[in-house]
Amino acid sequence: MEIFGKKLIGWYLQNQRKLPWRETGDPYKIWLSEVILQQTRINQGLDYYVKFVESFPDIHSLACAPEKEIYKLWQGLGYYNRAQNLIHAARTIANEYNGRFPGTKEELMKIKGIGPYTAAAISSIAFGKPDPVVDGNVFRVLSRVFGIKSPIDTAGGKKEFVSLAGRLMEGHPPGDFNQALMEFGAVWCKPKNPDCVHCIFYDECVARKQNTVSELPVKKPKARVKDRFFYYVVAQTQNERIIMKKRGPDDIWKNLYDFPLFVTGQRTQALKALNTLTGKLAPAGLVYSIKHISHEYIHLLTHQRIHAVFIRIIVENFPENRLENNVLLINQNDIENYPVPRLVEQYLQDQKLIK
Ligand code: ADE
Repeated sequence: MEIFGKKLIGWYLQNQRKLPWRETGDPYKIWLSEVILQQTRINQGLDYYVKFVESFPDIHSLACAPEKEIYKLWQGLGYYNRAQNLIHAARTIANEYNGRFPGTKEELMKIKGIGPYTAAAISSIAFGKPDPVVDGNVFRVLSRVFGIKSPIDTAGGKKEFVSLAGRLMEGHPPGDFNQALMEFGAVWCKPKNPDCVHCIFYDECVARKQNTVSELPVKKPKARVKDRFFYYVVAQTQNERIIMKKRGPDDIWKNLYDFPLFVTGQRTQALKALNTLTGKLAPAGLVYSIKHISHEYIHLLTHQRIHAVFIRIIVENFPENRLENNVLLINQNDIENYPVPRLVEQYLQDQKLIK
């Protein structure tokens, strides 16, 4: 345990990049650097940091700046909610804390716009508090050196890494320890082809010994994407009315509107699906003509890939008074007033049924 931090900090003192926020104890500048560096490489973040410090040298100048100016400086960094958080936190600290950053992680986290990662970075780097900072680089180094296979994107996995980092930090300056661990991950223990032969943890590294460097860190398995095949019947009457259906609570798109639908796990013939659908709509038989069969629309959801075909028919004898539950016969001009899934909206637009 002790040896890990000693070696790491020894490496850091010799190899750290010279970066402006490492030459200051000002929590404002340290905070600014950490917000900019989230999801941004140091080389790219550096220019933004310099621009921000020049334009807004302290918390008050940032808190008073017009939002447009801040967004303009932020432009190109992406993830605009980070800029939003920056503005929010700056105003809170300027107005409610007299411009002074609170000195503990717990107090910092009470400020809207400062999350656990940023709070730990400020409290450790600016105030020397023993709060471990665990970012993607840290997960990689610790999972490899200690051979930890817990998934890093679960609450339990995160806890395990934070707790390990906390124990490893004991007896070392927290700010240096945290930055050293992030820096070591960023410049040495890289995601691909790290130089293990010359690594300071060559002897200790469990992943190197077990030949699992390229498999660590572990993320939880991605849920498989399920293919579902949707066949919609878009039935219009001769007087320009159209059948819609309100979706139930048991599947996707709860309470939105679409059309009578046949769902299956395999691609099937549109005409077969149509037969099933019309049989259900009007068990006594339906007289209709097919107006159009759409191409297969692909609609991606988190765990589903929906393949949808819309079959548009004109019906002659629709049994209006015997409609199933949730089935509505509406005026074509009214479609626009019903909330529909994006997939259906796309189809309606393609067919010029809505704008
Ligand atoms: N990544 C984000 N913040 C960092 C820091 N202070 N040092 C090294 N890498 C970082």
